[in-house]
Amino acid sequence: MSNDLPSSMTAIEIASPGGPQVLRPVRRPVPQPGGGEVLIRVAAAGVNRPDVLQRKGLYPPPPGASDIPGLELAGQIVRVGPEVGEWAVGDQVCALVAGGGYAEYALAPAVQCLPIPRGLTPEQAAALPETVFTVYYNVWERSRLQPGDWLLVHGGSSGIGTTAILLAKAFGAQVIVTAGSGEKCAACLRLGADVAIDYKHVDFVAATLTATQGRGADVILDMVGGDYLARDIAAAAPDARIAVIATQGGRTAEIDLAVLMGKRLMIGGSALRPQTIERKGAIASALRRVIWPLIEAHGLHLPIHATFPLAEAARAHALMESGAHIGKIVLRAQT
Ligand SMILES: NC(=O)c1ccc[n+]([C@@H]2O[C@H](COP(=O)([O-])OP(=O)(O)OC[C@H]3O[C@@H](n4cnc5c(N)ncnc54)[C@H](OP(=O)(O)O)[C@@H]3O)[C@@H](O)[C@H]2O)c1
Repeated sequence: MSNDLPSSMTAIEIASPGGPQVLRPVRRPVPQPGGGEVLIRVAAAGVNRPDVLQRKGLYPPPPGASDIPGLELAGQIVRVGPEVGEWAVGDQVCALVAGGGYAEYALAPAVQCLPIPRGLTPEQAAALPETVFTVYYNVWERSRLQPGDWLLVHGGSSGIGTTAILLAKAFGAQVIVTAGSGEKCAACLRLGADVAIDYKHVDFVAATLTATQGRGADVILDMVGGDYLARDIAAAAPDARIAVIATQGGRTAEIDLAVLMGKRLMIGGSALRPQTIERKGAIASALRRVIWPLIEAHGLHLPIHATFPLAEAARAHALMESGAHIGKIVLRAQT
C-alpha cells in the first residue's frame, strides 16, 4: 500500500443540469478503495454520449455510483482494497466504472479492470471499456455474431460504431454501417467497413438488401430506435438478431409482428451502466478471452478524434454535441 498519495484531487463536477459550461473543475478528496475495489491514478478518461445525457440531468448515476461523470479510464493502480486478489499496486489497467472517471484518481471494481492491451497507450486504452463492453455484450453475447455474418451498425462513425467495425472485421464478419455524411462514410470504409450508407441520402433498408443479395443483415446494432426498428426488421435476414442500445430517434415503435414471426427474428435491448458488478465482471472475463486477443493480434485501436486536458471537459462535451467527431474523444488527466 502506497502512502504517498495526495489527500485531494482535481475532478470535474456537474454544477447543475445544463450545457457543457456546467462541467467545472473542483477539488475533491481522493477516494479510498473498499472491498473488491482498486484506486487508479487516472492517465486518461474516455468521453461517451451517456456522459452528455448525465450532464443534462437525463441519465442519473445508479445508486451508490460517484456523481462525477466518466464511465471509462486507464491508468496505474495505486491502492488495492480488501478482497482483491488479481491486481497489485503498479499494474497498468483500463476499467469500466459506473461514474468517477473525470478525475485524477478513481475507484474501480477490481473485476471491471482489464490489462492495457499490448501496444496501446493509456489514452488509447481509456477509449476502450465503455464501447467494447457494450458492443461485445450486444453483438457477441446476446446476438451471437458469427464469422461470415453481415452486421449492420447504425451510427458507424460514433464511438460505439467505430468499435463495432474494428472488432467485427477482425472477427471475420462483414460490416455495413449507416452514417450522416460522405466524410463519415469514408472514415468508416477506411476503418474496414464493407459498405457505408449515407442515411441522409440513401434508404438503408434498400442498400442493406442490395449489399447482401437480398438476404438482409444477420445482426443489427441500433442506437437510434423509434421508426428505425420497423426498418431494421425490413433489413433483417431470416433468424436475425436486433440489439437496441439507445433511443435517439424515439422511445416507441410500431412493428409488423407477422414479419417478425415470418423471419424468426429476435429483438433485444440493454443498458450497460445499471447492470451489477458481477455481470460486468463476467463481461470483462469474456472480453479478456475473446476480444483482447483480437485487439492485440490485429493491433486495433479506436480512432481518437480529439484529446483535451481534464480541466477542459466542457470543450470535449461541446465537440461531442456538435456531432463533428469521428470515433472517440478523450480527456488527459495528468499533466
Ligand atoms: N445501451 C448501452 O449500454 C449503451 C452504452 C454506451 C452507449 N450507448 C448509446 O450508444 C450511442 C452511441 O454512443 P457514443 O458514445 O458512441 O456516442 P457518439 O460518438 O456521440 O455517437 C452518436 C451517434 O449517433 C448517431 N445518430 C444520432 N441520431 C441519429 C439518427 N437519427 N440516425 C442515425 N444516426 C444517428 C450519430 O451519427 P451521425 O452523426 O452519422 O448522424 C452519431 O455517430 C449513444 O446513443 C449512447 O447513449 C448505449
